[in-house]
Amino acid sequence: MSLALAGIDDFHVHLRQGTLMRAVTPLLAKSGCRLAYVMVCLLTVPVQPNVADMRLPAQPNLKPPIRTTDEALAYKAQLQQLAPGVEFLMTLYLNPELTPDEIRKAAKAGVKGVKSYPRGVTTNSDSGIESYTVYYDVFRAMEEVGMVLNLHGEIPSDPSNDVCVLNAEERFLKHLAQLHADFPNLKIVLEHATTKAAVDMVKSLGDTVGCTITVHHLQLIVDDWAGQCHHFCKPVAKFPHDRDALRGVISEGHPRFFLGTDSAPHPRHTKESVAAAAAGVFVTPYVLPYLATILDSFGAIDKLEGFATRFGRAFYGIAEPAAAAAGVRAVKLVKAASGAGLRVPEEIPFVDDDGIQRSVVPFWAGKELPWTIEL
Ligand code: NCD
Ligand code: DOR
Ligand code: ZN
Ligand code: ZN
Repeated sequence: MSLALAGIDDFHVHLRQGTLMRAVTPLLAKSGCRLAYVMVCLLTVPVQPNVADMRLPAQPNLKPPIRTTDEALAYKAQLQQLAPGVEFLMTLYLNPELTPDEIRKAAKAGVKGVKSYPRGVTTNSDSGIESYTVYYDVFRAMEEVGMVLNLHGEIPSDPSNDVCVLNAEERFLKHLAQLHADFPNLKIVLEHATTKAAVDMVKSLGDTVGCTITVHHLQLIVDDWAGQCHHFCKPVAKFPHDRDALRGVISEGHPRFFLGTDSAPHPRHTKESVAAAAAGVFVTPYVLPYLATILDSFGAIDKLEGFATRFGRAFYGIAEPAAAAAGVRAVKLVKAASGAGLRVPEEIPFVDDDGIQRSVVPFWAGKELPWTIEL
């Protein structure tokens, strides 16, 4: 069994900076990825190694998120050099300094979206998150220029109101509905949906609301990350019925649900041997074999192409590359006989800024996958 594709589009990926950026970005092309929608958070980890030989890099890899057009363009130029054949789409981080003028400048420069990561604040807040009304001038400008609002749809944990990682997404959804009601023409993407409630909410809203789904959330449930640091990510994977809803909307071929991997590489020592593991699952190098294996497992391999190559572009209004439009299918996915599949490596090594050999552990490290790709 095999499947030919023009290449896939990842509408939510973290490519970091420095040595980690240089290690992971070239893997996009090798994995059959032709478009990367780049999220602004360069590294979210508080690095707290507690073992002597897991020393910190000489220059800590902690830069604030991209906030201006100029920063986004400089970052894009670095990425483009590392993977010349990949189309990089850039985003800005929603913050109180962002102005309508900067939005217009960003749109002219080709920046596609603004990423909102809800912050808990005590003043000017609305049920646990910073009120979006302070951003309404910015959203109006985005609506006018056709820029997309990318929402990390979780409210911060708040034990006094019974909010924790298991219901943080569900509790966020009313904010999505309100934003859509107030800005019906603003394109909004609910990023990395993990719940049936989110799927139902996005389905119930209009055509300007889309939703990304990661590869790992199509596979994992709570039991898989509780105590297993390489499956720990935010939002956390939820209940079996939630996973069923994510799988269901893909099986339906719903065009407003598309691939955004949230691939989030972290050095091994920031996930293992620390009191608090960094959140993130790294899927970029084997994204297609993972996706094919998982979709095949629930009878939806025929939905892979729409989910990973057509629906996201259609939502964002991004034309197919000429070769693809002309029918060129450069990536082949092949289902091998048992024992002849792809073995995911235990780790992907890289040399860090300080010359120390480190590594990133990919999703499903050590597992043999029936599906492989040929480029
Ligand atoms: C991440 C981002 O921007 O993408 N972090 C952040 O902004 N602080 C969060 C995410 O992936 O949702
Ligand atoms: O799992 C995650 N990893 N979730 C996020 O929101 C951020 C990301 C990262 O950048 O590591
Ligand atoms: Zn997010
Ligand atoms: Zn992300």
